[in-house]
Amino acid sequence: MSAVLEGIGKAVPPRVVTNAELAQTLDTTDEWVRTRTGIAQRYVAERGSGTADLAVEAGANALKSAGGSDVDAVVLATTTPDRIVPSTAPEVAARLGLGTIAAFDVNAVCAGFVYALATAAGLLATGVADRVLVIGAEVMTRITDPTDRGTAVLFGDGAGAVVLRRGDADEPGAIGPFDLGSDGDRADLLAIPAGGSRRPVDATALAERANYLFMDGKEVYRQAVTRMVASSRKVLDRAGWTIEDVDRLVGHQANARILSAVADRLGVPEDRRVSNVARYGNTSAASIPLALADAGLRPGERLLLTAFGAGMSWGSTLMTWPEITAA
Ligand code: COA
Repeated sequence: MSAVLEGIGKAVPPRVVTNAELAQTLDTTDEWVRTRTGIAQRYVAERGSGTADLAVEAGANALKSAGGSDVDAVVLATTTPDRIVPSTAPEVAARLGLGTIAAFDVNAVCAGFVYALATAAGLLATGVADRVLVIGAEVMTRITDPTDRGTAVLFGDGAGAVVLRRGDADEPGAIGPFDLGSDGDRADLLAIPAGGSRRPVDATALAERANYLFMDGKEVYRQAVTRMVASSRKVLDRAGWTIEDVDRLVGHQANARILSAVADRLGVPEDRRVSNVARYGNTSAASIPLALADAGLRPGERLLLTAFGAGMSWGSTLMTWPEITAA
């Protein structure tokens, strides 16, 4: 038994913010951002909108692509839930008209979508669900400090979603095996210091801007490359594939240099690398489904998916692209 992909959709907010626009209020330049990250623009959600809005739109598109809304669970990967309580997935399920089905969030930050795929595969394997809507949706610009040039240029907003059903491991669309991992000793390298149970937001936290994302960029970069390469190798070994079996590498779209470093070390040639980071920036849990939706994948292509993010958390999986049309 395997989870099999049968539909995919995406959504982005209407507003595009270019590097040049950011440079009007930040001490940065379009040239710096392009050469260090490969990012040219990002989509930014308007004030008053939230992750659920993007998740509902991407989810509806994925259901349309799958040809029906007969799902019995929603798994939403997000770092930026609309509220800390409750999780955002139940509202998304209700707004999609899916009724009172199982619905919950998964937070593994930028590795969230791969974690959510594995979670959904578990729901299918145990018979808890027959068909699952898996969404990665983020409003990362809400947790990014607009005055911190080290992070504000990196992140963007968006959502991607897939519909999974129970099927066979050898049919097109089958996902797996998986490799998942974490390193909590390095949790502080990429974190929002305040706003959780340990340190609620108070006046001191606000003055320190501790309610925003903090990142040790250089060390995160090193960890991202090392972990995605090791995790990719593990999952290839587990499946008995070599890197030559991979038609397209779909890495977490953190930035172009990380993607190139991972692909170089794995030995994936340039024409087999999927990248849309120039258009979206880093959309965290939304980045892999957005990349899958945009890549123009052909049925039968064999994919290696690998992601890394705060936690530190990482995950990889393999799949063969089915005959579907993105919505
Ligand atoms: N514009 C202009 N200058 C900037 C800048 C910006 N947006 N951001 C940082 N700088 C400056 C720094 O202040 C530093 O100046 P200094 O030398 O005077 O102190 C200089 O550029 C070099 O900074 P450094 O941190 O060494 O740059 P870098 O080559 O490491 O690139 C990142 C910075 C953030 C692009 C890089 O570390 C990175 O990609 N990290 C991983 C980030 C990521 O993807 N995280 C999410 C993973 S899921």
